[in-house]
Amino acid sequence: MNQITNNRYRQNYHIIPPTGWMNDPNGLCFFKGYYHVFFQYHPYSSEWGPMHWGHVRSTDLIHWEECPIALTPGDNEDKDGCFSGSALVKDDKLYLIYTGHHYKKNTNKEQYWQNQNIAFSDDGIHFEKYENNPIISSAPTDNAADFRDPKIWCENGKWFIVLGSQNKSGLGRVLLYSSDNLFEWEYKGVLSQSKHPETEGYMWECPDFFELDGHRVLLISPQGIIPNNGMFKNVYQTGYMIGDEQNGIFTRGNFIELDSGHDFYATQTMKTDDGRRIMFAWMDMWENKMPEQSDGWAGTMTIPRELKLVNNKLYSCPIEELKTLRSDLLLSKSEFINEIAFSSKEHQLEIEAKMNWDRASSISLEMKDDNGSDIIAVLFDAKDRKVILHRTGPDADRQTVIDQSEELSIRAYVDTSSFELFINNGEATFSERFYSESDLHFHLRAQQRTWCDMNVYKLGNNSSRTIIYK
Ligand code: FRU
Repeated sequence: MNQITNNRYRQNYHIIPPTGWMNDPNGLCFFKGYYHVFFQYHPYSSEWGPMHWGHVRSTDLIHWEECPIALTPGDNEDKDGCFSGSALVKDDKLYLIYTGHHYKKNTNKEQYWQNQNIAFSDDGIHFEKYENNPIISSAPTDNAADFRDPKIWCENGKWFIVLGSQNKSGLGRVLLYSSDNLFEWEYKGVLSQSKHPETEGYMWECPDFFELDGHRVLLISPQGIIPNNGMFKNVYQTGYMIGDEQNGIFTRGNFIELDSGHDFYATQTMKTDDGRRIMFAWMDMWENKMPEQSDGWAGTMTIPRELKLVNNKLYSCPIEELKTLRSDLLLSKSEFINEIAFSSKEHQLEIEAKMNWDRASSISLEMKDDNGSDIIAVLFDAKDRKVILHRTGPDADRQTVIDQSEELSIRAYVDTSSFELFINNGEATFSERFYSESDLHFHLRAQQRTWCDMNVYKLGNNSSRTIIYK
């Protein structure tokens, strides 16, 4: 196991790996009294390596308990990695469906093939791989090598899997399979395919396909989309398409980015017993700098977010349970303002503000360090309803456009090394990592005096640090 050498960037209430490297969330489910989140995991260094499945569980989706590694690669059917996948619960057993990764020659990491496997558990802690793996041994003949990330669900008594893939002409796509018994799978065809590699991607990773408010939603993480009009600036994106499915064909709208921040990828969702669609994402991005790697670890999940369809847009907002993390009300205002400033030694904060938003008055939220330099600055442009987030460093700006509204509502969750912003109840979101050990100094400003309701809460259980506000 790797060693943690410095705690400076360790998150307080987000899922992080005990040591080593973490990427995609996997296997979200509820089983025998616990929510489970598995994740792509390399325990032996803070870099990506042969993929294991790390594991945490929780009774409330907020406080997480570390569990032993659930899947270790190296068997015949997952020789070089247990790649991303999903979970299902049936007859008191928890099943994990995952991709086996195989290098054709160990000397060349570019040449590989992938198959799909299953493992099961009675207690939700110890997993046994199925002795007759794989359950899907090879990709359809018109597929390239990329054939991974099975997401399973049950509908009308039948099991279905969507798989991320690339066809031989270099287009990303999602393949659909079905089964009556979980072990024998039938290929049903291409559920949906990229229209062009530069606008919709040459490879689609981590598909998730579900019903929401009477429509079907396909969540995917495409590779290859070219930046356009200030959007799609991350190396890879995550987003969604809305439509309807008939006979295994998804008729859908355009690909829309789900989060506009620098650090958001490889989403997965689950449905809770009370009917909510809850999502986690990896709050990092391939090829981004991750300074925590020099401290013996890398990677964090987003907070759990609930998805909703509003006016044909996918909204994502913090789940209700997160309110239980509020430990102290640090600031509360209801008044006309030009500016509110406050500082905090602690990084564990929730900031919520509602403001009247005149077409003539832009609004900004800045998070600065002790030297007065911006760590993150967000501008809410009044006229164009454009939101521009600036994170100090290379490739600083990200942006999106929101609908006209008379009110601007902002909710931000800050942790030791992350900042998640929810605008107008989840119409737009920005997920960001940041690396500063400084106290945090916030300024909320409005160009013209405006009414503002604002609350700031301390989060988590760390009561030793205090907040000072002006
Ligand atoms: C997405 C991804 C998946 C793959 C996994 C490997 O980030 O590339 O497609 O299964 O990571 O760790």
